[in-house]
Amino acid sequence: MINKINALLDEIRDLTAHNADELEQLRLKYLSKKGAVSALMDDFRQVAAEQKREIGQRLNVLKTEAQDKFNALKVSLEDHSDAGSELDLTRTAHPYHVGTRHPLSIVKHEIETIFARLGFSIAEGPEIEDDWHVFGSLNFAEDHPARDMQDTFFVQHGADTLLRTHTSSVQTRVMEKTPPPIRIICPGRVYRNEAISYRAHCFFHQVEALYIDKNVSFADLKQVLMFFAKEMFGSDTKIRLRPSFFPFTEPSAEMDISCNLCGGKGCPFCKHTGWVEILGCGMVDPNVLENCGIDSKIHSGYALGMGIERITNLKYQVKDLRMFSENDVRFLKQFEAAT
Ligand code: DAH
Repeated sequence: MINKINALLDEIRDLTAHNADELEQLRLKYLSKKGAVSALMDDFRQVAAEQKREIGQRLNVLKTEAQDKFNALKVSLEDHSDAGSELDLTRTAHPYHVGTRHPLSIVKHEIETIFARLGFSIAEGPEIEDDWHVFGSLNFAEDHPARDMQDTFFVQHGADTLLRTHTSSVQTRVMEKTPPPIRIICPGRVYRNEAISYRAHCFFHQVEALYIDKNVSFADLKQVLMFFAKEMFGSDTKIRLRPSFFPFTEPSAEMDISCNLCGGKGCPFCKHTGWVEILGCGMVDPNVLENCGIDSKIHSGYALGMGIERITNLKYQVKDLRMFSENDVRFLKQFEAAT
């Protein structure tokens, strides 16, 4: 009997009730005439006379504790409902502003996802670079005219520290450290010393892709370009490659896609040609591989690079590049649905 009383006492001490219904259930289970405490009171009649005194005392403790516990739970529930009654549930909620992703982040993420599905992983490198990684390793000769094409910000005049003008520098950093096969994309910010206008800015963003392995051919490159264009701009998109020149690729090409506004028929956006340029690409020049310690007789590869602002413009027709860096909420909010 004593054990039973102690067990019930422990049980009662641990009770909780979250609402009036639960409290009533507890009352019925423990305190009502048919409850657990009354049941023990009934058992008390059978207790031998010499034990009655001790067990009686314990039963009284149990009864009072049970009643006290019930009262305490009741009071704490009433406290809460009092607080609740001060709330005006009919009052209009404060407007809740959720931020939106920046359009460049949305598009960058889309590009990353497409390449991830082809097995490319993401590589990053520093924005403050040296001449070797931005130019030298990429086959720009000391007096190469292509160096003039890049209006570079030098961090210290005459010093070897500059802001990278393209994310191709990350290619070199990865190739120097990683043996092939290499399959990476390098998204990031780049800097050029340009006068700021609606069509040029002193910083913008690029994504570079690089694949180095045995027997990589131009056909592999073309396949990836076609896949990317269709995934990004729709399955009707056509591509065309025009011969071009970059010091770090040979042969080099520029890729156009059929204008995604007029479907290739010709409109002011594509200057009535039906085509818009979206990226540069080519087979990695053997000199670049050798510069990074990769044997060009065994390995070959392709690279491609695109501007994220350019791709975003094609998707969303943002006419003024400056919008991307001004943080005007009225502009950014328009991308809520795409986030
Ligand atoms: N780095 C070039 C630029 O900034 C873009 C580019 C062209 C990257 C061709 C490449 C490539 O990887 O193969 O204009």
